[in-house]
Amino acid sequence: MKKIVCESYKDMCRVAADIYTGQLKEKPNSVLGLATGSTPIGLYKELIRRYEAGELDFSNAQSFNLDEYYPIDSTHHQSYAYFMNEQLFDKINLSKTQIPSGAATDPMAECARYDEEICKAGGIDLMLLGIGHNGHIGFNEPATSYHVGAHLVSLTESSINANSRFFGADEKQPTEALTMGIGHIFSAKKIILLISGAAKAEITRKLFEGMIHTDVPACLLLLHPNLTIIVDKEANGE
Ligand code: PGA
Repeated sequence: MKKIVCESYKDMCRVAADIYTGQLKEKPNSVLGLATGSTPIGLYKELIRRYEAGELDFSNAQSFNLDEYYPIDSTHHQSYAYFMNEQLFDKINLSKTQIPSGAATDPMAECARYDEEICKAGGIDLMLLGIGHNGHIGFNEPATSYHVGAHLVSLTESSINANSRFFGADEKQPTEALTMGIGHIFSAKKIILLISGAAKAEITRKLFEGMIHTDVPACLLLLHPNLTIIVDKEANGE
């Protein structure tokens, strides 16, 4: 595991964007695993900037997102599909983008389909992750056992509370989601975990305690052979 501590959130995004630049140079047809939430927004802005400057080309690459609320239509402004279109997909030239469908009538069949698509693509080359305050990755919530494949999950109170900031008082917040399982996250060839802000200092401290806490899903990543954790100073407790 490699830990990189950055002076600021902006630096963190630049460092992460450099990893993408290297990845796409080395393998233009990379399969990218992508995340939603506040943390990757600055990275996505930097990737768009580099794309517009002609420094990055995604035309041979494809992506799989980690998760999506359930049930939700992809056109709903709270869906992760909508978020990704707004924040990244509409502004770069990825050849194919995939997100679990929150509108699927049979969520189990949708999860099986999604797993199959990831397998057909040859697995994920570079997986981007954020971390929840409770240590979740994707929507793999703290538990005593973890799903290998994609699955429907009931969100914990911690995740619902953390995401409530995005919802208006008159908006119904979903309490379930479809998420990639630990298996496909873990089988990615490289993983980047971004952690930003003082509110994540406690979970960051726990992550670097040198113990695998099995009730902190992100701790499982510490066993991955090619994991880079990029934190800003605030998340690092400085
Ligand atoms: P955040 O979410 O980037 O909005 O903090 C991260 C996560 O829940 O995985």
